[in-house]
Amino acid sequence: TPAGAPVRDLEGVRVLVTAGGTHEQIDPVRFIANHSSGRQGLALAQAALVRGADVTLVAANVDLPSPPGARRLDVGSAAELAEAVAAERTRADVLVMAAAVADFAPASRAAAKIKKTGEDDVPVLELVRTEDILRTSVGARRDDPATAPGVIVGFAAETGDEATAPIEHARAKARAKGADLLVFNDVSAGVFGAAANDVTVLDASGEVVRSAAGDKSVVSHAVLDEVVRRRGHVR
Ligand code: CTP
Ligand code: CA
Repeated sequence: TPAGAPVRDLEGVRVLVTAGGTHEQIDPVRFIANHSSGRQGLALAQAALVRGADVTLVAANVDLPSPPGARRLDVGSAAELAEAVAAERTRADVLVMAAAVADFAPASRAAAKIKKTGEDDVPVLELVRTEDILRTSVGARRDDPATAPGVIVGFAAETGDEATAPIEHARAKARAKGADLLVFNDVSAGVFGAAANDVTVLDASGEVVRSAAGDKSVVSHAVLDEVVRRRGHVR
């Protein structure tokens, strides 16, 4: 390879990346959202393209341009994101779930704008759980490995609490999710929308396999290094 040229170690590998944050509609004018900008997912898509991958990006409310060369599918809600991933993952070699997916969505969407009634009455919003797409994807692979991504990667932004450090939450999540890799990000100090990132990559047993610090491109390449390493000697 000429000096400075990217290593094409994902040549022809089909990488499915989700990015952004879902919106759950309450009524025609309101929704429940989160602070994900989509930058980490876009950086992953870009890094995979540079390394030769064939990239499909499922973008949930991403107000940023996607890297040239990525095939982009725009979605709004967690249900739409779940549907897009279910349709696309059967022909993906690698699935990277970088999107922030709502855990709860309104049980129903009001057909008309919810109005104030009376002086001080407040509506009660009933929520239901959304599908855990990462977990469903791991389950689908268990059922039919031949049509599933060989490497499945999740992301987890965690804060600590009195009882538990952020990394411990991440280790527990890594074991519970069963993804091959879980990219843990300590957001105790706040990181959403920022350019820089500091991550620890865990395996399915919660062991640390790699860490990286730098901008989202550096982090993305570190995650992909681990994906490549695993593709080299699993299945
Ligand atoms: N995820 C998903 N489907 C959901 C929620 C999350 O696929 N309905 C994925 C995210 O894309 C991410 C990983 O699961 O890759 C971890 O998300 P996170 O919100 O940290 O985990 P949760 O299982 O939702 O746990 P928590 O209660 O801490 O939010
Ligand atoms: Ca969640």
